[in-house]
Amino acid sequence: MRHIRVIKTEATVSVNRKLKVAVLYGGQSGEHEVSLMSAASVMEELDEAKYDVTPVFISKEGHWDVPLDSLRQFDVVFPVLHGPMGEDGTVQGLLKLLGVPFVGAGVVGSAVGMDKAIFKDIMRAHGLPVAKSLVVLRSDWDDGSAQGADGLQLVQNRRKTLLERIESELGWPIFVKPANMGSSVGISKVKAPQDFPAAMDEALKWDRKVLLEASVPHARELEVSVLGNDELRASVVGEVRPRREFYDYAAKYLVKGEEESELIIPAPLPDETTARLRELAVQVARLADIQGMTRVDFLVNGQSGDIYVNEINTIPGFTSISMYPKLWIETGMTYAQLLDRLIQLAQDK
Ligand SMILES: Nc1ncnc2c1ncn2[C@@H]1O[C@H](COP(=O)(O)OP(=O)(O)O)[C@@H](O)[C@H]1O
Ligand SMILES: [Mg+2]
Repeated sequence: MRHIRVIKTEATVSVNRKLKVAVLYGGQSGEHEVSLMSAASVMEELDEAKYDVTPVFISKEGHWDVPLDSLRQFDVVFPVLHGPMGEDGTVQGLLKLLGVPFVGAGVVGSAVGMDKAIFKDIMRAHGLPVAKSLVVLRSDWDDGSAQGADGLQLVQNRRKTLLERIESELGWPIFVKPANMGSSVGISKVKAPQDFPAAMDEALKWDRKVLLEASVPHARELEVSVLGNDELRASVVGEVRPRREFYDYAAKYLVKGEEESELIIPAPLPDETTARLRELAVQVARLADIQGMTRVDFLVNGQSGDIYVNEINTIPGFTSISMYPKLWIETGMTYAQLLDRLIQLAQDK
């Protein structure tokens, strides 16, 4: 004989209740301003009929405008924060401790996505194509002045060895990048050794760890949006055409008119390249342990067609004209449907 137990769930009484969603924005990183723009779009597009939305501002100094413990009352938290202390696993760890479902990658995926050096090592270990690179710590580049004459000599030798390694392993030009940053903050393209120290000083303002990377010649910038938890889907491919030396902070957010970057969706590419990029994007996201969403960025040599995985963004730019949502819109979703899906994925995790 079968026993059937009837369990009354809370869901049956609260079926029409709006979901309480907190949108975290601002934050302590160099990308604070970018977050303000992304969060404004997200809050405008979240369907009022479905969600009861509370904006939660985090100041540049790290002050939250609500007590942290009060975040437990939300059904879902949507961190719309870019860069360190928001996109890097720190906020994700906090939300996990509080036991609140949140949109996007967890602690590991977020940290891996934020650290360009670790990310590249993981890709390399799995045979995925990445540009050659070297990692330098602040202590490796210390000017030695505090250590007296012996220290100075030691440092000069160390710097000389580093320049020799750049020459033999990477070749000029190189890109000098803070390992943990975004929006091109602190990044320089260095064409000759005499410009290298200034680029190091700039990168070290943002992180204690710096990635030196061989430049991909004739680089085309191609991006794919990925969505899903364990079942990941890739969008169509988009292309950014900056009209400056490279896709720097100004090209991303400041210049207008003639110098403004162009977004081309879908990217004009041979079918095999498009298919390969979409397939790689899913592989990259899986290796980086992504849940929810990520944008996977590639550099493709415009002459040889060689593909390089450049980076991922686990909380990509989210304004209505940003690449991540635009790629999904082109793939057949509305911006509002994309937000619904992300919230659903957060609840499913
Ligand atoms: N190895 C490289 N070769 C050519 N261009 C590069 C390379 N690395 C970075 N760039 C240029 O610098 C930009 C910013 O670098 P990226 O690694 O994407 O950092 P961020 O996280 O700040 O966006 C890229 O969009 C591209 O224009
Ligand atoms: Mg980038």
